[in-house]
Amino acid sequence: MAKKALISGITGQDGRHLAELLNDKGYEVHGIIRGQENTKKSIMKQELSFVHLIEADLTDQSSLVRAVEISQPDEVYNLAAISHVGYSFKNPQLTLDVTGKGVLNMLEAIRLNGMEKTARFYQASTSEMFGGLDYNRPGKGYDENALFHPRSPYGVAKLYGHWITKNYRESYGMHASCGILFNHEGPKRGIEFVTRKISNAVARIHLGLQDHIELGNLDPKRDWGYAGDYVEGMWLMLQQPKPDDYVLATGETHSIKDFLELAFKEIGINDWRPYVKQNPLFMRPAEVDILLGNPKKAEEKLGWKRRVDFPGLVKMMVDHDIELETKAMKKNKK
Ligand code: GDD
Repeated sequence: MAKKALISGITGQDGRHLAELLNDKGYEVHGIIRGQENTKKSIMKQELSFVHLIEADLTDQSSLVRAVEISQPDEVYNLAAISHVGYSFKNPQLTLDVTGKGVLNMLEAIRLNGMEKTARFYQASTSEMFGGLDYNRPGKGYDENALFHPRSPYGVAKLYGHWITKNYRESYGMHASCGILFNHEGPKRGIEFVTRKISNAVARIHLGLQDHIELGNLDPKRDWGYAGDYVEGMWLMLQQPKPDDYVLATGETHSIKDFLELAFKEIGINDWRPYVKQNPLFMRPAEVDILLGNPKKAEEKLGWKRRVDFPGLVKMMVDHDIELETKAMKKNKK
């Protein structure tokens, strides 16, 4: 019989990659979608028609109990969250409700269905929990034992989700694992995140559709990988005999300036500076200056390894956006 998976956050970048992966592996895939997201619903029906959509909300306990009851999952992947760090400063309480307490609601939904011993659970933890202040291990990077010091309402809420997942593992013997994922990007990334914002603007500048891009702080460094590689790691965590926590990262860190440099080179522009304006609107009250992950444990224990490198990622995103914008231009001309 096919294994069943329940994914929250199915309309997001990771949810879409994971749904495809699980479908390829023969899973019956169920996805949670908020009731009124009709546009997203129709996109999902076109793109991922195999997914069984269930209307529920992470802040509504009873809707999650129903989602678990309907899907009877072997594996639950909790990917839903308010995931934009900048947005979380403007909406800290909503972020706490969804990104923090939502995890508890999901764990409770499994328990209330009496499935805590049968359903395996994945929690999308994040490198934002480290906060970049304890960066005192040059060349080594953050691993599973590094100190947490979140620097945003988002990071603080995620830390609650991380610990409540560990607590349910220890209290109820749940097969519950946390993936501490460093930034992972790609063509499915939302336009509000810096990499996609850049790749999209570079494509539009190339096609003469805009002449500059406005960004915030250009100095922060991130450990950027490809999302398609990272969902494989999520799945591997739930296939282990015992639950555990793992860092997924590339082990390299690059600044936003490095990303700009490579992205503009893709369209034959060697100096990106004249095309970039800084706008305080995109600055954050507190910044995570540098993130570098150490994926050794995941590589050794899960056999996980990222395939796409940094230049490959930038090229993939810029090429994709040039194609997308070209298609849109042609459609508009008709
Ligand atoms: N979004 C955005 N927009 N970020 C900008 C901009 C801008 O115009 N200009 C500069 N930045 C800087 C941010 O200040 C930050 O230092 C960096 O670019 C990356 O920002 P994001 O792409 O928004 O990602 P993030 O690192 O804050 O968070 C992402 O990665 C986390 C994992 O570490 C998100 O995906 C989180 O949900 C995830 O947990």
